[in-house]
Amino acid sequence: MTAVPETVSISIQRGAPGEESHVETYDVPYREGMSVLDAVVWIRTHVDSSVAFRYSCVNANACKECMVAVNGKTEYACTARLSTDGMTVGPLTNKTLIRDLVTDIVPPKENLRTILAERDGG
Ligand code: FES
Repeated sequence: MTAVPETVSISIQRGAPGEESHVETYDVPYREGMSVLDAVVWIRTHVDSSVAFRYSCVNANACKECMVAVNGKTEYACTARLSTDGMTVGPLTNKTLIRDLVTDIVPPKENLRTILAERDGG
């Protein structure tokens, strides 16, 4: 039987448009079954309140606002389980970066800029 670690490392890609992105690694107290979102919330609450991320429904898998890249694969942070081997979390690579883990996930048809441009004939 493998011992459950007291902490796990999670690396988060940080940065905003126009800035050089960088990775920061945090040690998070581990609880069996915790999600990537649980870890990011813990980091923001206890270590670094500047980490930008977004979520809404938490585990209902309904809002899709928590989508991030976990080890390069698109996942819902609220349902992705935290690996005891450590992991890297970054923003979605196919969406426009806003800051850190937050990307613009609004569908183009619902984007206010698109709607106004179409209304104004542009
Ligand atoms: S927080 Fe809503 S789907 Fe993850």
